[in-house]
Amino acid sequence: MGAGIAQVMAASGRTVFLHDAAPGAVEKGLAGMRKSLERLAAKGAPHDPDDVLGRVEPVDEIVDADLMVEAVVEDADVKQNVFRRADLALDPDAVLASNTSSIPIASLAEVTARPERVIGMHFFNPVPVMALVEVVRAPGTADETVREIVALAEELGKTPAEVNDFPGFVSNRILMPLINEAAHALQDGVAEAEAIDTIARLGFNHPMGPLALADLIGLDTCVSIMEVLRDGLGEAKFEPCPLLRDHVAAGRLGRKTGQGFYSYL
Ligand code: 3HC
Repeated sequence: MGAGIAQVMAASGRTVFLHDAAPGAVEKGLAGMRKSLERLAAKGAPHDPDDVLGRVEPVDEIVDADLMVEAVVEDADVKQNVFRRADLALDPDAVLASNTSSIPIASLAEVTARPERVIGMHFFNPVPVMALVEVVRAPGTADETVREIVALAEELGKTPAEVNDFPGFVSNRILMPLINEAAHALQDGVAEAEAIDTIARLGFNHPMGPLALADLIGLDTCVSIMEVLRDGLGEAKFEPCPLLRDHVAAGRLGRKTGQGFYSYL
């Protein structure tokens, strides 16, 4: 998602610094951005892919900027570490935003010296196509910070929706139980994966079925979000389905590994 966020920021004319600690991740992100930009250009988007990519600068560490949007793995400790480092690297007035799917923003704000400038800016996959940005206000987030991020989302051509800081916010509190229950239906032998997804697509007019969507999001991310919902809201109904856990334990994480509920090899 980090590449998708960088892409929409750069397409809006901004300079973007792209940083990833994992070797090769930035190159993979840039290749995905080029593919996406060429697809959009072929359909008449006004942006020249080379111009947009020319505004994206890979960097080896977190550097100063007006805004950081963190999109690392869905793990509170890893995210807090990024926020600590960003708090030192960026100007004290800069906004530190997280694209977290579920982790409370207050837990990231508390490791910084600027809780009023910390906010959730939650994009949706695939970022260049999806219209929503869930703007998450923590108890300490300043009104001005919310206004700035709402305005930025609109400048990116997205529709912002403001929510409060609960585990999973609104989007994943609704979406993840659907995906988890679809995994239970598959595990129980109610139907094959294709039939479950066909029912959601044609029965509810969802653009893709919940199992295919889980593969797009990443099954490891789905499990992490369910755990945040279970622990944060204290309800057993959010326990991740064993079948989801089995796929993750076997390294079948969805599209990114070529295998999840479906095969992409
Ligand atoms: N970059 C640019 N364009 C892209 C793209 C990308 N990465 N991915 C798809 N597109 C474009 C296609 O070119 C096509 O454009 P067109 O309609 O103008 O021809 C359009 O999007 C539709 O793509 P396809 O025809 O290839 O396939 P679909 O019609 O199945 O659409 C989809 C693909 C947009 C992914 C659609 O299936 C969809 O909306 N799925 C649901 C996605 C969703 O629910 N996302 C939210 C996930 S939750 C999340 O991200 C939050 C996190 O916290 C977990």
